[in-house]
Amino acid sequence: MNQNGNEGNKGNKGKRDFLYFPSTWFFIATLALFFATLAIVWSESHQPWREWIARYNSQNAVTPVPIEIRALVPTQTGKPELCVTCHVGIEDISASHPAETFGCVVCHGGQPRALDQDRAHATMRGGRNPSALEVAAQSCGQANCHGGYADPDAERNHVDRVLKSVQATYAGGIAHVRFSFGAQKSPTALFGNRAVSDATQVLSPQLRALEMFPANPVSGTLDAKMIACLNGGCHLWTTPAKPQAYQYRGSGCAACHYVYADDGLYRGKDATIARDQPGHGVAHQLTTAIPFSQCNHCHNRGNYDLRTMQFDRRDDLPPVARPLSAQMPPEGRRLIEYYQPIGEFTKCEVELNCVDCHTAQEAMGDGHIYGSKKDAQYVQCQTCHGTPASKPQTAIIKDANELAMRQARINGHAEFIKVGDQVIATARGELLWSIKQIAPNKFVQIDKVSGKIYNVPLAQGSQCTQDGKTQTSDYCHECHKVVR
Ligand code: HEC
Ligand code: HEC
Ligand code: HEC
Ligand code: HEC
Ligand code: HEC
Ligand code: HEC
Ligand code: HEC
Repeated sequence: MNQNGNEGNKGNKGKRDFLYFPSTWFFIATLALFFATLAIVWSESHQPWREWIARYNSQNAVTPVPIEIRALVPTQTGKPELCVTCHVGIEDISASHPAETFGCVVCHGGQPRALDQDRAHATMRGGRNPSALEVAAQSCGQANCHGGYADPDAERNHVDRVLKSVQATYAGGIAHVRFSFGAQKSPTALFGNRAVSDATQVLSPQLRALEMFPANPVSGTLDAKMIACLNGGCHLWTTPAKPQAYQYRGSGCAACHYVYADDGLYRGKDATIARDQPGHGVAHQLTTAIPFSQCNHCHNRGNYDLRTMQFDRRDDLPPVARPLSAQMPPEGRRLIEYYQPIGEFTKCEVELNCVDCHTAQEAMGDGHIYGSKKDAQYVQCQTCHGTPASKPQTAIIKDANELAMRQARINGHAEFIKVGDQVIATARGELLWSIKQIAPNKFVQIDKVSGKIYNVPLAQGSQCTQDGKTQTSDYCHECHKVVR
């Protein structure tokens, strides 16, 4: 017992000695310092930005990049941006917007010096998409970019043009449904997705202005039902599009210029963008070589059910078997993937890309307001084929910096045309840079997406029995069609 008690005493005394012994404190302090250092090192090495670089290395790099803070100093601003620390490996958005000149913030906004995701992103424009129409004027539409040119007709005011185009206003669709159901007395468009007006001279059938379509219509009315239609994902304001194969796309300028695959998967190198989660563009890239699939992500909705105000599901579409990327799929697949059994097409309509026939002014608008797609659309079969009595209309390229030459350069096919070449011109005087005359009766066309060269057959000199006046495709399809 005593011994035990003594031992206990001894033990207590020993503990006191231990605590009072100066080197013990030193030992504890060292230990604490050691753990604190360890914690700092741990948290440093586990800082998210380090992890993104590590993930990038594990996913992509043949030679790993060092795990360090990266600053991009775009020549345009001279101010360092740290975005690429986490977004290391992200593709240049386009040859016209190289990262070393533009950086990221000029388009996206955000805090250039933040290394913390939330702070870096807090002040971004348009979330994912700086080209969403709500913010396009502040990002794409900055002066000397795609807006702010003094001449109100300036073709470089792309943002202003797009905001007034039927693809954004949806004026034709709205007017068509309201008129058919007796909600308005005439088929003339009154409303758009947003109010727009045109201060320049307006020539029929252009409209002076559109009112904003009732945002809060009386419930039970046709207009209330139409909100479902307008949210259905078929115009440039809607974002995001329906998460469905064949319908993935961005909104605003990105709806056309930022290509999404049919399966909506990202195939680029930025490790922060999920690769297994559909709903991203193929790569961080803007292009004017827009494949037909991109346009079809809207122009592919099948039949509209006027009872439910919804597009019927396209159950006839095959599963997305193979990504389309920027290339045309093998012949035949396109017809099945995109077109309805009742549709009729000539060979060129399902062989060329939409942008090979439909011009920049049709797609982005000409700065004026139109009330229906029929008023806005003007390229015809005869634009390329002429008629039995006439050749297609042409014009000569005069200046190395005119629009047609710039379009060829931006598309990556600058070599196709040069000053002095004779190219096809539309009835409105827009030049089709991709079709040139190489002999009195010979025209060649370059596919803007695949780069393939076609001979454009002329109606003149052929056995074509068309009447020479009618230009609706329905009429031509009576004798010229490919069947699905
Ligand atoms: C700390 C790392 C980090 C930094 C710094 C950073 N980002 Fe990000 N960013 C991410 C991650 C991670 C995601 C993916 C977020 C998600 O999936 O929710 C992302 C997503 C984005 C997106 C897509 C947003 C969306 O809603 O889908 C954009 C655009 C973007 N970043 C731009 C920028 C810009 C511009 C900067 C610089 C101002 C920047 N980021 C700085 C990590 C970072
Ligand atoms: C010319 C304007 C422009 C520049 C410059 C630009 N981006 Fe983007 N970026 C866009 C557009 C437009 C989109 C939206 C695409 C969409 O809606 O799918 C986008 C999308 C993104 C996304 C989201 C992609 C996804 O699928 O989730 C990230 C991340 C991003 N950008 C980061 C950056 C970084 C980092 C930089 C600088 C190195 C940069 N961007 C430079 C225009 C730009
Ligand atoms: C409905 C599809 C569509 C939308 C939306 C769209 N574009 Fe275009 N864009 C085109 C087509 C088609 C071309 C012509 C490409 C060609 O002929 O080489 C084009 C060409 C361009 C060009 C090349 C120069 C020119 O004037 O032809 C620029 C720059 C451009 N677009 C910017 C924009 C901007 C900025 C936005 C958003 C405000 C936008 N685009 C929205 C389809 C679209
Ligand atoms: C975001 C969805 C969307 C995308 C993407 C889209 N369109 Fe459209 N498009 C529309 C809507 C909406 C209309 C107008 C419907 C109406 O009001 O009648 C339209 C109308 C048109 C018209 C007839 C009117 C006109 O402006 O000439 C053409 C031609 C056209 N689109 C071509 C294209 C081409 C080419 C592309 C791809 C480069 C494309 N569209 C991509 C939604 C879209
Ligand atoms: C932008 C120019 C362009 C426009 C517009 C155009 N085509 Fe074509 N068309 C072509 C090209 C290029 C070919 C050659 C295709 C080939 O050789 O495979 C072609 C071929 C044809 C042929 C002969 C091939 C065949 O056997 O079917 C017919 C017929 C034809 N087009 C009818 C039409 C009709 C009808 C329209 C209007 C709906 C039209 N084209 C609009 C460029 C155009
Ligand atoms: C009543 C029938 C008929 C109609 C309608 C018709 N075509 Fe034709 N077309 C023909 C025949 C027959 C030929 C000569 C046989 C051939 O080359 O396929 C021909 C030849 C052509 C060719 C030359 C094809 C080549 O390979 O050399 C073109 C281009 C063409 N038609 C365009 C059109 C366009 C555009 C329309 C509508 C505006 C149209 N055709 C309407 C019957 C028609
Ligand atoms: C070979 C040239 C050619 C190609 C390729 C082409 N179109 Fe057209 N498109 C025309 C012509 C010509 C018209 C006007 C004649 C007509 O509709 O009767 C037209 C009319 C249209 C219209 C307005 C008329 C309507 O009835 O809706 C839209 C929208 C349209 N095209 C969208 C597209 C889309 C989207 C693509 C790609 C998937 C495409 N086009 C491919 C030549 C073409």
